[in-house]
Amino acid sequence: MTDDTPHIDPPCIMVIFGAAGDLTMRKLIPALYNLKKSNLLPDDFAVIGVARAVMNDAEFRKRLNDEMREFATNDIEPEVWQWLEERLYYLSGDFNDDQTFASLKEMTTRIDSERNTQGNYFFYLATAPDYFAPVVQRLGSVELTHEGDNHWRRVVIEKPFGRDLESARKLNQALKQVLDEHQIYRIDHYLGKETVQNILVFRFGNGIFEPIWNRTYIDSVQITAAEKVGVEHRGGYYEEAGALRDMVPNHLLQLVTLTAMEPPVSFKADAVRDEQTKILHAIQCPSTEEAGRRAVRGQYDAGEIDGQPVPAYHSEPNVAPNSAVETFVALKLLIDNWRWADVPFYLRTGKHLAARDTEIAINFRRAPFVLFRDTPVDRLSSNQLVLHIQPDEGITVRFGAKVPGPILKIGAVDMNFDYEDYFGNTPSTGYERLLHDCMMGDATLFQRADQVEAAWSVVAPIQAAWNSEPAPAFPNYKAGTWGPKEADDLLARDGEEWEQTHDIHKGK
Ligand code: BG6
Repeated sequence: MTDDTPHIDPPCIMVIFGAAGDLTMRKLIPALYNLKKSNLLPDDFAVIGVARAVMNDAEFRKRLNDEMREFATNDIEPEVWQWLEERLYYLSGDFNDDQTFASLKEMTTRIDSERNTQGNYFFYLATAPDYFAPVVQRLGSVELTHEGDNHWRRVVIEKPFGRDLESARKLNQALKQVLDEHQIYRIDHYLGKETVQNILVFRFGNGIFEPIWNRTYIDSVQITAAEKVGVEHRGGYYEEAGALRDMVPNHLLQLVTLTAMEPPVSFKADAVRDEQTKILHAIQCPSTEEAGRRAVRGQYDAGEIDGQPVPAYHSEPNVAPNSAVETFVALKLLIDNWRWADVPFYLRTGKHLAARDTEIAINFRRAPFVLFRDTPVDRLSSNQLVLHIQPDEGITVRFGAKVPGPILKIGAVDMNFDYEDYFGNTPSTGYERLLHDCMMGDATLFQRADQVEAAWSVVAPIQAAWNSEPAPAFPNYKAGTWGPKEADDLLARDGEEWEQTHDIHKGK
């Protein structure tokens, strides 16, 4: 990980299905630009965008050129952009039409020989999930997924990967009729975040944390992924998804597994993913009733964000006026293994909350009070270690210190490490590392089939509980707050409360 030699990607063609969509313009093309700027893309490289919109190569290039002005993460250097622009090609076609795939086959063969990409292709499915299986099946039928001794073929699948355990299994089966598991790269963009990757380095690259990283010293763990934004223009998608499906089996459980996993035997993809999957299997599977008690759902009402009024979820575009879809979820999970038995993991995520803040707060057991019995101190607080994932990336240790003065008082103080202060700011889309790894054939940060299914098994009891009873009276929290009161009650039952640590980093 400290090796500074650039690992240039091998010659290849990236085919993007859904090339006229949001992900392509906001993330994929800016990420490719950043990779080129870091000298990680090979000269023998090309991108073929596929979408229904009718365009030629020149129009596609012009369109991306315009979009880059808006979405590039830093100033555009004309020669870097020109390098990438002249490698962009476009194919207009319907994903349900065999002809599109016949044309794609011809086009890849032609560009492969023009650009000397050596038969290595990866197909990025930035499409609606309904297309995942049919596109892969059609790629298979024109033999674009066939690997050879000297060339590879890979498919990158965006989320959502299914909508429950059964649909995820079906999707895995459909993909595996055409592809071998080593060809499938199921993306979770949270794993592209530096601070998420840093959890492994923090835990396993330092000697002082791992000895206390267990039930003997840790009292509870809280994972928050709070968003200030509402559902924006994604009402249609969100009505089908809701906060649980949208965030938990993927992003939040990634944070859980990285926090809780055992040290892997190596940093090889399967070694890391084996340990992550073991944690998912160890998460208690409660009865439907108990799952209902350990999960809280909420939906935002009209309120204020940054002083501006915002509408209720049910008044958002493409949302049913009586929608029972949750925009907030809080959960209590228990991991049944030796390291974590009886240590609750509390998770919460929601739209239109009071702050944008993703963090993992580790709460340590309190020191014995015995020495302080005859002092003015009435209780000792627990120590905390907070991994700030975003927006301000860093780590805080909170501990008690004597407040100066003749009377013994303890105040909570924070020791902060800030990523940007130490390493500067390297603007990125979060997709650079993932695209680079896919081209290099490193699947560590991508999800394996069994991992995805294990994650859906974790949320299955909650889905069953919620399907078995009517939704609470929604809306039940005001936009701009920290969610419904029931989320506080969930922790209060265990004598806990949510840590409001988002404001301690950088003194904000
Ligand atoms: C996506 C969800 O996967 O992650 C969105 O579909 C959510 O609803 C987003 O807003 C959060 O990602 P980030 O990187 O903005 O924290």
